[in-house]
Amino acid sequence: MQGVDPAWLPDEAFRPIGTRRTLIRGSGPLVDTVHAEVAEACVRFGGSVSRDGTLVSCAPYERYDLVLELTGAEDGGGGEAFTFERGDGPATVTASGGSGLLYGLFHVVRLGDTAFQGSYGREEHRPESAVRMLDHWDNVAVHPVMGQVERGYAGGSLFWQDGRARGELLGRVRAYGRLLAACGINAVAVNNVNVHEAEAHLLTDRIREVAEIAGALRPYGIRTHLSVTFAAPMVLGGLPTADPLDEAVRGWWAEASARAYAAIPDFGGYVVKADSEGRPGPFAYGRSHADGANMLAAALEPYGGTVHWRAFVYDHRQDWRDRTTDRARAAYDHFTPLDGEFADNAVLQVKHGPMDFQVREPVSPLIGAMPGTRLAVETQATQEYTGQQRHVCWLGPMWSEVLRFRPHGGADGASVGELARGGLVAVSNVGDDPFWTGHPLAQANLYTFGRLAWQPHADPGRILDEWIGLTFAPGPADTRLHAGLRTVLDGSWRTYEKYTAPLGVGWMVQPGHHYGPSVDGYEYSPWGTYHFADRDGIGVDRSVTTGTGYAGQYAKVWAEVYESPDTCPDELLLFFHHVSYGHTLQSGKTVIQHIYDTHFEGVQEVEEAREVWASLAGLMDPARHARVAERFEEQLRSAREWRDQINSYFLRKSGVADAHGRRIH
Ligand code: GCU
Repeated sequence: MQGVDPAWLPDEAFRPIGTRRTLIRGSGPLVDTVHAEVAEACVRFGGSVSRDGTLVSCAPYERYDLVLELTGAEDGGGGEAFTFERGDGPATVTASGGSGLLYGLFHVVRLGDTAFQGSYGREEHRPESAVRMLDHWDNVAVHPVMGQVERGYAGGSLFWQDGRARGELLGRVRAYGRLLAACGINAVAVNNVNVHEAEAHLLTDRIREVAEIAGALRPYGIRTHLSVTFAAPMVLGGLPTADPLDEAVRGWWAEASARAYAAIPDFGGYVVKADSEGRPGPFAYGRSHADGANMLAAALEPYGGTVHWRAFVYDHRQDWRDRTTDRARAAYDHFTPLDGEFADNAVLQVKHGPMDFQVREPVSPLIGAMPGTRLAVETQATQEYTGQQRHVCWLGPMWSEVLRFRPHGGADGASVGELARGGLVAVSNVGDDPFWTGHPLAQANLYTFGRLAWQPHADPGRILDEWIGLTFAPGPADTRLHAGLRTVLDGSWRTYEKYTAPLGVGWMVQPGHHYGPSVDGYEYSPWGTYHFADRDGIGVDRSVTTGTGYAGQYAKVWAEVYESPDTCPDELLLFFHHVSYGHTLQSGKTVIQHIYDTHFEGVQEVEEAREVWASLAGLMDPARHARVAERFEEQLRSAREWRDQINSYFLRKSGVADAHGRRIH
């Protein structure tokens, strides 16, 4: 589409298909999409496409190079799996559902010319997670503090402008859907989990706007979901209560859901943030979260919809002097007693860590502790705490670590990726920015999330290579460009970790907007986000023996590892323990020297990455290069600020000099 950054689907990526002869068999709306994609590529590159034997554009060939075949009757159902093979004849994709055929087409796009060279035995591809979802935190209107997209760093909303649906710009939404399908996403929630006044109406009198968005995403196999407020029966329906066991309330939700499905037959369902950071919820009526979620599940059930009920429930008004309350414990304490009580179409959506998307957190102990509940695991592609898309921070390795983590230990125990039976969700990092994500390299996070959601055990490095190959160098690989991009992105998460809050303790950010350092910014706040640094040491004692007991929420194998500072992994030490500055890490360094060293190293790594980036000028679209170069200046300024504030703070607290005598202020 004109004026829209092609991201990982540049025209060139379709050359291998567009120069060849393709046969498409089958019918239905998603097969139409597949056909349109191939036909457009053929117009551009001179190949041909036939459909069910009807030659659409003539070519002097006798046989086909690619056959895309729907084996099921229609493409409405039939699943997302596909097969790929190539012997002596054409490369062949078969699928029993239209989505499968579409995913098969994008598989061939990823393979490029290699799809048509050599032979491939029959390969079966199917997503390991049935729901691969992006949650947009978009508001219809611009919020006075948060802007239009809460925690959005890529401009305004993709979906709304000036308080209305971007009717004339739905082409961009469609282009977005296309990019999402090409990395495997199949669900999008279109509005903020904090549902304000205007957005509440999307469920009822503004449902047509949601239907328009759904219409633009549907051709790419994406179902649309909506965040709703638990108080909707009161706010929208004028009822005196939102009690989930009240018959009138249940009736209201049943009717609202019926109307939503009348407008959007394949509507995905609701996302709900309840009793969390001031949002309304079932606690007000003495009801449980299972009561709340199940009421909505019942309203959606006749239509095959799902409620994604978020587990982000904690006391955001705690007294910092109260050492008995530990925010990290909250989700587990609230939800594990409810295991087995949630309806089949209620999914409990759990943030991957117990706090809030910090650069390093342990895996939430809730995952693995609710065998009788469908869980979805929520990650954050939008870089709220990881540089706000002004810093390069490729999150693939972090997500991969989380997805591979085995809450019950052992090689046989299920991994987080396997336990997320309700799906994998990321908060979207996209807005109306010309590069979609503000920082062009943040596109890699979106792509990586989709591919990991499809296959949680995939090697993130291989996904990064795939993204680089598609986005920057389709065709014969430009090794210098590829290697440069790899260098800049590969270690960027660990670099970010080095120059920000140390050893898993988190936060130390400016309150409110969360950008840039403020070591004590949250120390005396009600948010439950403390580091407890004093002149002797730092960290939160979450052990069972002497601390908050949080470590005991894990299965024995991990509880034991985390319980003692001697076995706790260095990168999580201050999350689990309060230790002295002289405490020796497993790395052999003291905590204080680790803090100094990592902060100097982190800045140095940013300087090096900036140089590498500069050396890539001329190897790509100049606008893309310039945008990243500009962001690197800010990243470096900010990384130095982090280094200097953190190092100075801890020098002043501890009085321990840097062993290498470097300048600390
Ligand atoms: C974070 C974020 C909020 C968001 C919340 C959530 O706290 O800062 O903006 O609303 O997470 O996930 O609900």
